[in-house]
Amino acid sequence: MNILVLGSGGREYALAWKIAQSPKTDKLFIAPGNAGTGVLGVNLPIETTEFENIKKAVVENDIDMVVVGPENPLVEGIHDFFIADDYLKKIKIIGPLKEGARLEGSKDFAKQFMVKNHIPTAAYKTFNHDNLDEGYTFLESLQPPYVLKADGLAAGKGVVIVNNLEEAKSELKAMIEEAKFGDASANVVVEEFLSGIELSVFVITDGNSYLLLPEAKDYKRIGEGDTGLNTGGMGSISPVPFAGKEFMSKIEEKIIKPTINGLKSDGIPYQGFIFFGLIKVDDEPFVIEYNCRLGDPETESIIPRINSDLVDILTATADGTLHEQKISIDDRYAATVMLVSGGYPKQYEKGKTISGLDNVNNCILFHAGTTTDVESMEVKTSGGRVLAITALGNNLKEALNTAYQNAEIIQYERKNYRKDIGFDLL
Ligand code: AMP
Ligand code: GLY
Repeated sequence: MNILVLGSGGREYALAWKIAQSPKTDKLFIAPGNAGTGVLGVNLPIETTEFENIKKAVVENDIDMVVVGPENPLVEGIHDFFIADDYLKKIKIIGPLKEGARLEGSKDFAKQFMVKNHIPTAAYKTFNHDNLDEGYTFLESLQPPYVLKADGLAAGKGVVIVNNLEEAKSELKAMIEEAKFGDASANVVVEEFLSGIELSVFVITDGNSYLLLPEAKDYKRIGEGDTGLNTGGMGSISPVPFAGKEFMSKIEEKIIKPTINGLKSDGIPYQGFIFFGLIKVDDEPFVIEYNCRLGDPETESIIPRINSDLVDILTATADGTLHEQKISIDDRYAATVMLVSGGYPKQYEKGKTISGLDNVNNCILFHAGTTTDVESMEVKTSGGRVLAITALGNNLKEALNTAYQNAEIIQYERKNYRKDIGFDLL
């Protein structure tokens, strides 16, 4: 089978790395990819939302299956584009149609869906230009801190949490009246603050049955001790020590099954990944958000723990035969440390030469923001998150030690990484 992975980050490298190991894979393509994916397969210079160019590449390269990494092409309707096209409708595509992608693309839609299906989540109301005053009144009825969320996609920046009521009101106004997040904040979800510890849970579904993938915890802030600015994610670990058997089965019964059944009863077909961003409050799971894709850097921790052939699972997802598949998971711990560019998540420089790539031991290097310089053929930095280093171990400590040893081996100017990934759980 010829397979095309869409995206260019560590998540897509991890998917491509796993797909490349399958005997079912003939040719592997990645668009646009990075320096590392160019070694696993063939990089195509196409952005993930250039649907016509993707079609051309699918036809030219005789692609049988497309695996969509990031959310944007899904929310913009790449799967619908495939179905509407006589040639493309025969091609397998992993990722929901536009309607299912609204679980991530519209926070208000996701909230309505959860309420309708009795899925535990924070109490909320949605406001816009027409009922802004009611928004202020609603904020007055809540206890601080106040959580405000732009309804639409805002590149991971659309959630604002503030402690002060007046600040919350002016944020609400800025989001709605001053388009702080553009069209994405024309509608704003205001919700109750939940206090607890977060985890990321993933399934793959064909719309009828699902397979539970390993769960993970990610570390979003730039600074040690979870301080400083939010990033795309500075590291992750899997499994999650505080998510034991009993808690995971609560998640399946109260959240995963009602979600799959809710999609089915609403007539929303769904073939792809669902990422449940959860919070454990006392001993109960609540949904913070849905995503219609895998997480990054969680993918870099969970993919190495899947023993099964991913191409079999993806094929069954597209064919609607997932109930015939089983998944085998490695019991070991995975730890992922993200090496970033100095300055990230604010301004940072690109084009730094990376050394030590061939000297690492007992770990997997997932390329993210890397590129191969066409003249020198050196690997250089090309993004904020540069490389994800994942190591497996018999316990969390062992996995972290190995990942951190290797983090020292890779060198480039102004390399930065968090030194405390997973330490809160040791
Ligand atoms: P999101 O962009 O939806 O992932 O939200 C960003 C972060 O805001 C989440 O990872 C949580 O840490 C936090 N957050 C979102 N909603 C809530 C809530 N209702 N209560 C507490 N924290 C929240
Ligand atoms: N690591 C969180 C995300 O991918 O959204």
